[in-house]
Amino acid sequence: MFVEVCDLAQVRRDAINHFTVGGRELIVTWIDGEYSVLDGVCTHEYAELWNGFLGDGIITCPLHLSQFNAKTGEVLSPPAEEPLKTYRFKVEGSKLLVDLPDQT
Ligand code: FES
Repeated sequence: MFVEVCDLAQVRRDAINHFTVGGRELIVTWIDGEYSVLDGVCTHEYAELWNGFLGDGIITCPLHLSQFNAKTGEVLSPPAEEPLKTYRFKVEGSKLLVDLPDQT
């Protein structure tokens, strides 16, 4: 089920944009004209990635400095081993909606 995340105007370019949707912590990136929606919590331990760093399309965890591809969630640098979950999304008018399968 698609759920509204935000207005597109709230998404800052080349930044880690944090939204809580359906009880999930999500981050939205807008890099090279492409949006991505990913889990906002590190897959290593609990760290809020929106408090981390973004540069050159790479998100760096603020706790142990794992690095993830900011578009695909792929792990680029340990200690994290699992990629960040990515979400399907769509744009409707000025809104960004994300597909949260377990939302009713
Ligand atoms: S919590 Fe993110 S690298 Fe450890």
